[in-house]
Amino acid sequence: MHIKEAEKETGKRVELAGWVHRKRSSGGIVFVIIRDRTGILQVAVKKNNVDARSWQAAENTTVESSVKVEGVVKKDPRAPSGYELEATALENVQVSEPFPITEYQSTELLLDKRHLWLRSRKMTGVMIARAHIFRYAREFLDGEGFFEITPPTITLAGGETGSNLFEVSYFGRKAYLTESSQLYAEAMVPVLENVYSLVPAYRAEQSRTTKHLAELWMLEPEMAYYDSEQSMKLQERMVSHIAQRFVKEEADIIELLGLDRKELAGIKPPFKRMSYEQAIELLNSKGAKLKWGDDFGVKEEMMLTEDEKKPIFITDWAKEIKAFYAYVNPKDTRTVLSDDMQAPHGHGEIIGGTQREWRLDVLMQRMRDVEKSTGVKFNMANYEWWLDLRRYGSVPHSGFGMGMERVIKWLLNLDHIRDAIPFPRMSNRLYP
Ligand code: 4AD
Ligand code: MG
Repeated sequence: MHIKEAEKETGKRVELAGWVHRKRSSGGIVFVIIRDRTGILQVAVKKNNVDARSWQAAENTTVESSVKVEGVVKKDPRAPSGYELEATALENVQVSEPFPITEYQSTELLLDKRHLWLRSRKMTGVMIARAHIFRYAREFLDGEGFFEITPPTITLAGGETGSNLFEVSYFGRKAYLTESSQLYAEAMVPVLENVYSLVPAYRAEQSRTTKHLAELWMLEPEMAYYDSEQSMKLQERMVSHIAQRFVKEEADIIELLGLDRKELAGIKPPFKRMSYEQAIELLNSKGAKLKWGDDFGVKEEMMLTEDEKKPIFITDWAKEIKAFYAYVNPKDTRTVLSDDMQAPHGHGEIIGGTQREWRLDVLMQRMRDVEKSTGVKFNMANYEWWLDLRRYGSVPHSGFGMGMERVIKWLLNLDHIRDAIPFPRMSNRLYP
């Protein structure tokens, strides 16, 4: 059985395979607290109830040893979970060496021992929730008739800023780890119409914040004939779907982390919308000193969303702070048809999306303008294939990217994004 089934199995003889969470002895009894992915359970090994080999194994076992136990489940109010397994046999699969993580440890040590720290109750819960959240996102898009695609992550050209790319040596040529799969998703639009990829994106972020990873998992849907309005509608339905499924299925982690279930259950469309211009006004009225063209940092994101319970959209961003492929707003050419979804309570931007410029001449003009204003030249040869998409059967389209770890950080109210991913990659962290 799994530990969670203890109640159902009360009075029955069961087998359990797990790891030793804690151990203590008193006289002729060894209490071994066992954990598996579903919980912890006290196992009482009594000298009189087991054979000599099992007794010896119980005496020898240590914290984090892998063990197999047989016994009968009993209700016992004194046991930590209310149930106890009275052992009839215990076997050490492997006796653990002294475990290097004890009760109070520095954050640095826990990161050095990440491969072991993942076994903690909290991280186990986060890893279960993470797997489920990936599933909820996929099941939503699959249900909408999207196709999952698999873009390459080693590329010749950047899609976003181009400034935080990781360079790799590719058989002697210069290549980059992708910072977004958008360009390849766009190529799949004339093939499959509505598509998404869910693969890592890489950002050589120097900034050490609680929201930035160097390797993140990005969900990137791309939709034929969608304008930014339709894209935003899809985004809020998708995020609501994920939140609703989370509330329904993740009772354990909601309790373990003390999350606000009611607030999570309230995450339903529509989400509040505010233009970039309105956001600047609001921030300045709260004491910020922003001018047109400034981007928002950690402080501004917190000021914008600290009192929110649901995510909000910031739309119509200043042209100069968004990527060159964003569609210029016909109603206000200082801005582009773009939207960022900001999570509540300062958890930060979870989605960045735009309507795409799909007309070849306008797009090329935009690239030349960006070259002029930044002084950085595009290596056009690397973009030829992507410009072809505008030459052969181009259609209006929109898409967005959602950072999975940002979503997990927000839903689980984690202090730091590194806990949303098993092996975080940050500027100062490559091991393990
Ligand atoms: O806003 P971004 O940079 O958008 C793009 O890359 C678009 N090309 C996506 C698209 O339209 N297909 O990144 C998208 C999202 C952000 O909103 C954020 O949630 C997450 O990816 N993200 C990060 N998450 C963790 N660490 C980082 N360093 C991140 N950079 C972006
Ligand atoms: Mg962004």
